[in-house]
Amino acid sequence: MDIVELIKYAEEASKKAYAPYSLFKVGAALLTSRDNIYAGCNVENTSYGLTICAERVAIFKAVSEGEQEFKALAVFSDSIDYCFPCGACRQVLIEFGSDMQVYMAGRSGKYKVMNISELMPCVFMRKEEI
Ligand code: THU
Repeated sequence: MDIVELIKYAEEASKKAYAPYSLFKVGAALLTSRDNIYAGCNVENTSYGLTICAERVAIFKAVSEGEQEFKALAVFSDSIDYCFPCGACRQVLIEFGSDMQVYMAGRSGKYKVMNISELMPCVFMRKEEI
């Protein structure tokens, strides 16, 4: 799978975002080890705290379809520059492995890539898992 193509999936997903409060549309596309793609967008709520980010929608879709191994995630934000995944999403993403590559892109066409363990150092673990 070409990374530019994965970013395109994330961009398409961002167009479906429900973001009437922030007007900040985000899309995510997750590439699984079986080469399937699960896309998600942010879904906001009038009770603001119930909002869910695009990254978590994508990962919850994948897990609920039986996939738990991921190669890469593309995140597209409808802004000139890319944005980084929020801390909550980083914690959820790293739960499924520390190897995932995260591609962050915006309208400029430039993107940045980082490993999830770079984005989430000193991750929370229950004591018995350390
Ligand atoms: N948002 C995401 O979907 N992903 C991120 O990585 C950061 C933030 C959403 C949440 C909210 O709907 C909007 O962007 C503004 O914070």
